[in-house]
Order: sequence, then C-alpha cells, then structure tokens
Amino acid sequence: MSYLLENLKLKEIFKKKETKEVKKEEYHFSISQAASQETVNFPETEDKTKIDFRYPLIVPYAYAHIAWDEVQNELVYKLEEPAIDPRELDILKKLEQGVKEFINMSFISVKEKETLIEFLEKNVRILLTEMNIRLEKNSYLKIMYYIYRDFIGLNKMEPLMNDYFIEDIECNGKNSPLYIVHRKYGNLKTSIIFKDMEELTNFVEKLAQKCGRYISYSTPIVDGVLPDGSRINATFTEDVSSKGPTFTIRKFTKDPWSPTKLMDVGTASPELLSYIWLLVENGSNVLVVGGTGSGKTSLINSIAFFIPPQSRIVSIEDSRELRLEHENWLPSVARAGVGADKDKVGEVTMFDLLKESFRQRPDYIIVGEVRGTEASVLFQGMAAGHASMATMHADDVRTVIRRLQTPPINLSPSLVETLDAICLMTHAKIKNVDTRKVSAIQEILSVKDSGEVEVNVPFKWDPKTNNFLFKKQSNVFDKIILKKGMDRQKLDYEFTVRAKLLLELYKKKIFEFVKVQKIVHSYYKTPEKVLREFGIIK
Ligand SMILES: Nc1ncnc2c1ncn2[C@@H]1O[C@H](COP(=O)(O)OP(=O)(O)OP(=O)(O)O)[C@@H](O)[C@H]1O
Ligand SMILES: [Mg+2]
Repeated sequence: MSYLLENLKLKEIFKKKETKEVKKEEYHFSISQAASQETVNFPETEDKTKIDFRYPLIVPYAYAHIAWDEVQNELVYKLEEPAIDPRELDILKKLEQGVKEFINMSFISVKEKETLIEFLEKNVRILLTEMNIRLEKNSYLKIMYYIYRDFIGLNKMEPLMNDYFIEDIECNGKNSPLYIVHRKYGNLKTSIIFKDMEELTNFVEKLAQKCGRYISYSTPIVDGVLPDGSRINATFTEDVSSKGPTFTIRKFTKDPWSPTKLMDVGTASPELLSYIWLLVENGSNVLVVGGTGSGKTSLINSIAFFIPPQSRIVSIEDSRELRLEHENWLPSVARAGVGADKDKVGEVTMFDLLKESFRQRPDYIIVGEVRGTEASVLFQGMAAGHASMATMHADDVRTVIRRLQTPPINLSPSLVETLDAICLMTHAKIKNVDTRKVSAIQEILSVKDSGEVEVNVPFKWDPKTNNFLFKKQSNVFDKIILKKGMDRQKLDYEFTVRAKLLLELYKKKIFEFVKVQKIVHSYYKTPEKVLREFGIIK
C-alpha cells in the first residue's frame, strides 16, 4: 500500500475516532528513571580490558553497557535498547506516522512526563484499534518505548540524557560514532551512529527547536539551552562541517557543585575555599581560568555561594548556566540577533549587558565567560570598585595576561592589576580516575607593559602527593587589611574557623547546595552560633 493511501486511511480513521469505542487494556506503559544512579558500583579493576558492566538508564528498557571492545581495542559505551523484529518495526513506523500527523505533541504545555505518556498512550491505543492491529503485551510495550523516546524524549539521545555519569555528548556528523565524556571513564566512544543524513538533520532541528532557537542553512550555528538546563551547540551545513550537522550537549547537573561537594571530589581543600570565601566577602576580583570542561563555571557558581546574603548580584552569560540561591540576584543572558552580520536586529551582547549592569547598582558582577571586548568593560568596572568574578578559557596565567593585553581586549597593565587572584582549573588523573583540581591560586602583584607578570602563589596542588599546599603569606589579605582597616589577627582567625567549618560540613556530608548556602548565609548573620552548632568553638 502506498504511503499516501495509508495516510488517507488514517485520516478517515481519525474522523471517526470519537465514535468508535476503544478497548481498555489492563497493562500500561510506564518507565522509571534509573533511581539513585549516583550509587552505581563500578567495578574496581584498573585493567580496562576486564570491564564489562551494565547499569540501567530508563527502567526497564534502556541500559548502558560499558565493555572492552576486542576489535577496536578500547572501552566502548554501548546503548542497549529493546530489540524489535521486522513486524514490530513496521507497526512502529505506521504508528509514528500516525502520531506525527494527528497528534500535535508540541501543542501540549504539560511538563510532567506521566501526563504526556498517558496522553500519548491513549492516542496510540486509538490508532491501534482503528488500524486493526493486535499486539502482544511485550511488543506493545517495546513499541511504546520507542514512541515515547522519539516524541516525548530526545530520540536516541534520551537514554543518554538519563545517564547521571554522562557529562557531554558529542556528535561529529554522519557515520561517525558519538563520543561521551563519562564521569568515571573519561572520553568514551559509543555504539551510537547517525547513519542517515535526514535523521541527523531532523534531530539537530529538533534540538534547536527545543531550545527555542532556529537552525537553518542561513543561520547554521546554534548555542542554546534545553528546557532541563543542558547546554547545546549545534552546526547545520555541510560546508561548516563536511560530515553534515554536528551537535554537542553539555548535560545539566541537577545540583550545582557546592563548596563541600568540591572538597568531596578532591577539587579543593577547606583552606583554599576559606581563602576564597574571605576574598569574595571583601569584594576582591577573581578570575577562574582553565581548559574546556575543566570545571570553571562550576567553580564560579560554587564560590558565588560565599557572596554575603544581602548583596546585589548581577550575572551575565551567553547561555544560562549559573544557579544561585540568592534573593537579590539579577541573571541576564546575551541574545543572538537575527539576520546577516551587519544588519542583525535584536542582538544583545555580553558587552551591552555589562555596560547596562553598572546602572543596576550591583555589589557583585559575575560574567560567565569573558572572550572579547566585554573584558575591557569588566576591568573598568573592577577599577571603579565593582567586585567581579568571571571565567576565561586559557591554560595558564601567562596566556591570560597576554590575552588581556592584546587585541581585541587591549587592557593597560594598570587595569590588569585590578585583578586580585586567578584560580587555575585542571583535569588530573588520580589512580586512573578523572578528577578536576584547582591546581593553583595566583595573586597578581604587578604587570609590566611587556606582559611580564609577578605573582604570589598562596595555594598549589601537588600532583605527587595529591595535597593542597598553602602558605600563610597572601598579598590579597594584605590589601584587604589595608582597604577595610581590618585587624590581621581577626582575618587569620576568620580564615582558620571558616576552614574548620567547611571541613566539618564535609565530614557531616552536607553537600546539598541549598543546605550549604543556608549555613553560609547564617554564618554572615550569626557566626558564633553557627560555629558553636558545628562544634568549632565552645
Ligand atoms: N570539580 C569537579 N569534579 C568533577 N566534575 C566536575 C567538577 N566541576 C565540574 N564538573 C563537571 O564537568 C563538566 C564541565 O563543567 P563546567 O561546565 O563547569 O566546565 P567549564 O570549564 O566551565 O567548561 P566550558 O569550557 O565548556 O565552559 C560538567 O559536567 C560538570 O558537572
Ligand atoms: Mg564554562
């Protein structure tokens, strides 16, 4: 039967669907997200060739299977989904066609998955009855899984979006296996390949649409955020990338990294965080620097916990990533314009937002990532006394300083000197496990015209012993003492008790960001009460 005929038949069916009675089935499609995945017990072995491990993603349908692949000689992430036979596939295709034509899923504003599933299932049952198709329970449930995955979920990516251990998903085009960044195993090749150009194109369009953006041959690059907060970057045309559309998904972590959580994963020590806390409280300017995916944004988000509760924060980002539990917070996000380069309309850049932000009387400005001309506005703001924190993509301090002093940023050495401290983030392998480290904190002492920079390093991570080393001498502390007329002893005392407090919270496994934020805020209001509560003072 031709497609057209089938469609006509379906249309007929739907005209009468109200009148015909649909048989009630006793079983229903339902899924549960893999519960408490965080506690999955990965095999302890250090020998990767011995790894052969499965864990659930969408119960009971989709599983991750990580195993050594003898042919490819590497560890591969295989996605396991229910196998369907040719008859089932044929029915699935017909049903998908029916759902596409007659049910407007995008119309539905309901967010709860259960309600959407119920709605979808009701309609699929109508379609099945009208098409006179009888299905075994098992076949029905498998088919429903695929319909759910493709219409409510993100198609093939849906199970991966449910994998707590996946940080990034990368697709480099047609016929090229997708790669993931796995929390436990780092970069892994997957068994997923888009072999069909149309499928890949449709998927990238769907991604853009879910972000409320539009991708096409004339606007072939999209940066956006999915409703769940995951970040998307996608390209469309074959001349931008010869293998066709590409996409990267930076998955959203449900809970932002709290300072104590960072201690738990070995990223920072209590003393290092106590030092940053004092800098932040006293309005110092901090830059977080590191490579791609090194945890810069997560660190900035975490140290923003230390901003005093009543302060006004204005944040400026390209896409919304920061999450703060702060009442007086004005988040703003840059917006791409529509049209060709010169005639762009509606564009709001980071530069515009930053200029605007000074009128909003912020106590703190947080800039997601500085790249270009906005840096000069940021540094002028710092020089005018607006405490700021930002991230910047670079591997070391020298590169940062050079970049700040050369086009397009072009800052004078005295403006660069308004920066108080730089936190360096790096990836490090500890006992074969991928971790992130604040590898050093460097205080800027002076910057010369030549770009030469003099620094003091109060904190340093030692790769040999995996310890954070610190020395008491801090030039930024000296600055704070001068600027605030603060007593040195008092500052040292604060440094010590806050480090102890953070250590105690860590020992008590208080990682949840709302809880940690509450304690930090209470510390600002009644420090002694908090210290007493956690047994730091009597
Ligand atoms: N300290 C950490 N330990 C383990 N994982 C982390 C840590 N910090 C961040 N991550 C994870 O690493 C990924 C990248 O983090 P993040 O976005 O903060 O990095 P980034 O340096 O800002 O990246 P980009 O260069 O893309 O801006 C996220 O999935 C995040 O959850
Ligand atoms: Mg970032």
